[in-house]
Amino acid sequence: MKNVLITGANQGIGFEVAKQMAQLGYYVYLGSRDEQKGLTAANELYNEGLTNIEVLKIDVSDLESVRNAASTLQSKVEALDILINNAAIAGPQPQKISACDITTIKEIFNTNYFGPIQTTQHFLPLLKKAPLPVIVNVSSELGSLTMQTSESRSPNWDNYHVYGATKTALNTFTINLAHEMRGTKFRINSVTPGYTATNLNNFAGFKTVAEGAKPIVQLATIGEDGPTGRFFCQEGEFPW
Ligand SMILES: NC(=O)c1ccc[n+]([C@@H]2O[C@H](COP(=O)([O-])OP(=O)(O)OC[C@H]3O[C@@H](n4cnc5c(N)ncnc54)[C@H](OP(=O)(O)O)[C@@H]3O)[C@@H](O)[C@H]2O)c1
Repeated sequence: MKNVLITGANQGIGFEVAKQMAQLGYYVYLGSRDEQKGLTAANELYNEGLTNIEVLKIDVSDLESVRNAASTLQSKVEALDILINNAAIAGPQPQKISACDITTIKEIFNTNYFGPIQTTQHFLPLLKKAPLPVIVNVSSELGSLTMQTSESRSPNWDNYHVYGATKTALNTFTINLAHEMRGTKFRINSVTPGYTATNLNNFAGFKTVAEGAKPIVQLATIGEDGPTGRFFCQEGEFPW
């Protein structure tokens, strides 16, 4: 059975991805920074008959927590097949870059950009032991420079200048890591779930979590001939 770790999987899109991956027969490590919240989420899935799930305590913004999570997983599995860097925060709004205080900016980057990097770095040794290692970085339309520079961008985007920048940075992480891993079996991509009703946006999104999770699961389960170093949405490729 292939192993998958999803960070921030105790609620929202990550929880739904955990459910769909378990339904597909993967052994799911449900990442949660709060162990109790993780156990409650996992119990909900056990009650639906999904027993191939285990909670892994991981706070992606806390290096010690990431180290502990990696060594816990190392003691349990030979290899990690799939890492889904899903955990993120939106941060307080409005978020105009002219006025947003630097502490807030650093906090959002700490979770959304440094978090996936330090998580990936610590799980790379286990990923390298998998026959076809896959990394999915959960990004956003708001990270797309093409969309950020579009004449028709929504005024609502001014609420997310910093959040958007963290996702642009995350996309460069995808590009550079995929470049570094070229010539290997690693498949590393960014994906946006689309505007999905979750806690992140006070449930204002148009999509259901089942819809939001779908492109993430599709990219997580790609084969050897699948893409790497690219950015996707449900409908196909998304502009950087
Ligand atoms: N919803 C959308 O419209 C939308 C659109 C584009 C992209 N996305 C992306 O989709 C992903 C999932 O977001 P969502 O909408 O499902 O949001 P959500 O419901 O707020 O879930 C976010 C998850 O991340 C966790 N998290 C936050 N900080 C963390 C940390 N430092 N360490 C570990 N876990 C942490 C949260 O844990 P707690 O429960 O402990 O807070 C929660 O489990 C994110 O990457 C987001 O940027 C969402």
